[in-house]
Amino acid sequence: MLYNMYKLPNIEEINPNRARVLVRVDFNVPLQVLEDSIQILDKSRIESHAETIMQLVDGDNSVVLVSHQGRPGTRDFTSLEYHAEAASEVFGLDVKWVDDVAGPCARDAIRRLGPGEVLLLDNVRLYSEETIEAPPEVHARSLLVRRLRGLFDLYVNDAFATAHRSHASIVGFPYVLPSAMGSLMRREIEAVSRIFRPEDAPKIFVLGGSKVYDTMRIIENLYKNRVAERILTGGLLAEVLLLAKGVNIGQENLDFLERRGLLSLVPRARRLLLRGAPIETPIDFVTSSDNGVIEVPAYRVEGRIMDIGGNTISMYTELMKEARFIVLRGPMGVIEDERFRKGTLGVIKGSINSGAFTLFGGGHMNVLLYQLGLAEKAGHVSTGGAALLTLLSGEPLPAVEALRLSYKRFSGGG
Ligand code: 3PG
Repeated sequence: MLYNMYKLPNIEEINPNRARVLVRVDFNVPLQVLEDSIQILDKSRIESHAETIMQLVDGDNSVVLVSHQGRPGTRDFTSLEYHAEAASEVFGLDVKWVDDVAGPCARDAIRRLGPGEVLLLDNVRLYSEETIEAPPEVHARSLLVRRLRGLFDLYVNDAFATAHRSHASIVGFPYVLPSAMGSLMRREIEAVSRIFRPEDAPKIFVLGGSKVYDTMRIIENLYKNRVAERILTGGLLAEVLLLAKGVNIGQENLDFLERRGLLSLVPRARRLLLRGAPIETPIDFVTSSDNGVIEVPAYRVEGRIMDIGGNTISMYTELMKEARFIVLRGPMGVIEDERFRKGTLGVIKGSINSGAFTLFGGGHMNVLLYQLGLAEKAGHVSTGGAALLTLLSGEPLPAVEALRLSYKRFSGGG
């Protein structure tokens, strides 16, 4: 769904003053979790909220930030203490932190916050109800929302990268509080709605990464709404697609996908392929085994798949030359290890050199784009990955729908 921003309230228009404001930000950043500390590897997500936070601080509002980091059960599911330190540095002001989300400590800290002060609550996903996908009216009754709503005059959503989730902190608060978009949310949606036009075909999507469930849903929508002329794949997604094609990817890779619970996606992938979705899979891989790191064809895989191979990079680079618009989301391989970055670097360079308009969708790919010094040449670098793709694939964003509903409920707007 590409939005007409008319009638969506934003903080520039509302210009709140001396209000108590709850701001949903996305401080979900790449981390290195060490024995007794946490290192934030890339602060750009935090930096991206500067405009919203500074505007609210300048208006002498009491600003309370709420964010998630990682998902329960993952290594990067941590407290936000280090994020508060990083935010203090980035915004040049004291961002306080409280070791609580909505309990007595958090509520007390919120009540004591003065005008122009900023407080970061702890990881909102500590509340198990947060991540249930539910409509606004259901989340409005959640403990999280019931405990915090009375402490605020206004809710601001600036978390574009989480706008595709129908979570309590995204859709529950706008149901019970007057709400607005933050500057980042507005800028992202405006930029994407302006640059992504149906006539910009051929459009090529380059999709990889490890969030395979999300990406599969997005490919289904891209196909249903006939948005992409081609979809080039890598990462775990490509392994699932190859299995769906009946390719033997080797026991080691099969076991890996099983452990990650991804084999249940194979029938969905097969349905997409049978219907003729324009999906390309790698023709070779870089693998790692007792025999070392080698390149193998996709029909004769040995060892664990770590990256797409050189022939796939050339094939994808060639295909991208046909495009007028390229969207890239998620790495092609295990880029945490330098030996397996070539595929991702290859598609980044290929897309930039193709002359097409390029749209980069968040996460580790953006980090590499900056490292290569190519960010200047990109069309748009978004903070959102799955949120960006949801928007581009023609589906509504729950965060924006909730703001629209809030506007109707509190201002009688249409
Ligand atoms: C992201 O990085 O895509 C957003 O922060 C959302 O994270 P999630 O996929 O864990 O909901």
